[in-house]
Amino acid sequence: MTSQVSALRLFDLIQSHRVTAVIYVAARLGLAELLSYGPQTPAKLAKATGADERALGRLLTALSTIGICSRTGEDSYALTEVGACLDGSAEHSVKGWAILETELLSKSWSGMLESIMTGKTVAQLQGVDDSFELMGRTPELVDKFNAAMVELTRLVTPNVLQSYDFSGIRHLMDVGGGSGELLGAIAQQNRKLRGTVFDLPRCAEAASKHLRQAGVGDRVEFVAGDFFKTVPAIADAIILKSIIHDWDDARSITILQNCRKALPNAGKLFLVERLMPETPTMADEDREQALSDLNMLRGPGGLERTEGQYRELLNRSGFDPVTTYSAGRFNLIEACPR
Ligand SMILES: C[S@@+](CC[C@H](N)C(=O)[O-])C[C@H]1O[C@@H](n2cnc3c(N)ncnc32)[C@H](O)[C@@H]1O
Repeated sequence: MTSQVSALRLFDLIQSHRVTAVIYVAARLGLAELLSYGPQTPAKLAKATGADERALGRLLTALSTIGICSRTGEDSYALTEVGACLDGSAEHSVKGWAILETELLSKSWSGMLESIMTGKTVAQLQGVDDSFELMGRTPELVDKFNAAMVELTRLVTPNVLQSYDFSGIRHLMDVGGGSGELLGAIAQQNRKLRGTVFDLPRCAEAASKHLRQAGVGDRVEFVAGDFFKTVPAIADAIILKSIIHDWDDARSITILQNCRKALPNAGKLFLVERLMPETPTMADEDREQALSDLNMLRGPGGLERTEGQYRELLNRSGFDPVTTYSAGRFNLIEACPR
């Protein structure tokens, strides 16, 4: 049986991409940066952005209905606390993610039907096996992807630092460590720790720059390589954040086995991932995780796993899972070589 209420609820869900689109336009116009100095009228914002004043006024109305800004006084708009996270210079900025979501992910998601019908990624449907290789053919996309990953990792880093005491580790390697955001923060907190960010050569410049700026460039270096081929045997512990969820079981086991070969018997391995609940509900976090799972299906070809599935993967790759620590929306799974 249907009702008008349920049809309208569905109607709202169907249109949810419009919310992504208005946030994207606000990000591209730099509205959060402009409003960070205080409330502004549409006329002033139009002048600063070059946008059509009346159209921009309508965008601001839409943004105020989703809590990005709020109307103050007769005809001016102020930034909300949520909207402030759209400012690229904010400590908790997700501006890069707003740009990635529209310029890369929304476009990819419009073809989700093909992936559901075939079980294949966009790249596989184009005859390319590795989505990261396909992305690498468009350097601007790589930059946007890496910038968005830095933001997401920066948001969770305080939770990871609280979840585990890394002080007992001499040399930590972040495999697939991107721009070095996580390892840089771990090294800042643990002054004796040496570190290596291991990733594709295309991450070298951004990572080296970030590690220098974080003041850990003398202890943490970038090493380029391919984790499907080999992982350098230089560290007593390895951390992988948001790596294993990118890949199917076979490829994940290859990466983990290469990590196992690189670690001493007394070494440690950490996975930082969000866990798929055993029985996802309609809670926001469960929905986010289920949608992330489809993002993995369409994008790199991986999946979001339950804790049990991660433990099984680790077992099959020569590791004994030890403990799972909660780290905000993420979890840190500690494992030892068997
Ligand atoms: C989802 S991002 C995670 C980045 C980082 N760990 C974080 O959480 O911010 C996946 C990372 O894996 C890296 N990567 C993909 N294929 C790789 C390969 N074959 N060898 C090494 N790194 C690879 C990408 O360049 C990217 O930095």
